[in-house]
Amino acid sequence: MADTPDARFKHLRCEAPKDSQIEFAPARPAPDQHFIDLEPLTPEPHPKGAGFSRRSFLSGLGATSLLAGAAPLAASAPVLEPAAQEAASAAGTENLTLRVNGKDYPLRGLDPRATLLDTLRERLHLSGTKKGCDHGQCGACTVHVNGRRVNSCLSFAVMHEGDEITTIEGLGQPGNLHAMQAAFVEHDGYQCGYCTSGQIMSAVALLKEPIGPADDDIKHAMAGNICRCGAYTNIVAAVRQVRTRA
Ligand code: FES
Ligand code: FES
Repeated sequence: MADTPDARFKHLRCEAPKDSQIEFAPARPAPDQHFIDLEPLTPEPHPKGAGFSRRSFLSGLGATSLLAGAAPLAASAPVLEPAAQEAASAAGTENLTLRVNGKDYPLRGLDPRATLLDTLRERLHLSGTKKGCDHGQCGACTVHVNGRRVNSCLSFAVMHEGDEITTIEGLGQPGNLHAMQAAFVEHDGYQCGYCTSGQIMSAVALLKEPIGPADDDIKHAMAGNICRCGAYTNIVAAVRQVRTRA
């Protein structure tokens, strides 16, 4: 088929059946109507060395403008000497002591923007607390602060000087498990285990929370802890067991 505009847009035209009484608008605009001349969606043929299409010319113009604008910015960026860089990075940091699992951890040069989660994992090397979403949506990072559960990815470490922080490492140890840890093992309340420390920290905290006695109350109270392996039935069984024995 010849690649003429009429042939390419033929499928958009509406044709009246033979012997129809319907009259269709004329195919061509009236002289007083204004239409934008749209570029066809089919690729334009580009014989080698034939120059630019309107689209490729505009794209090239945009990229060139961006590069031209970036050059003066890069040239004007201040370059600090190494010593000045060190002084600049030390300024604005904090020295504080965090109390975690009954032990004091003095911290020097802590970025005030560091989350409690990152500080526990990267400065104190307590990696039992997991980073899932880092946005307060999965519960993998749950720890206790003064006995209450907290998403540590949503809390700045500098806010917790003087607080009593408990992580999964402070709950129990191999050979001396907390009752909730033992119940998770007994009921297979995990598969990959990535969410498990957060699940257990939440489950231990809810033992002291005013929730009802039913399984639905457990599910509601644990709704902030996501398990992508779907071990929910076994998690509820573990929590139920500890609640009934407590
Ligand atoms: S990592 Fe904190 S809620 Fe997901
Ligand atoms: S055990 Fe794998 S995400 Fe919960």
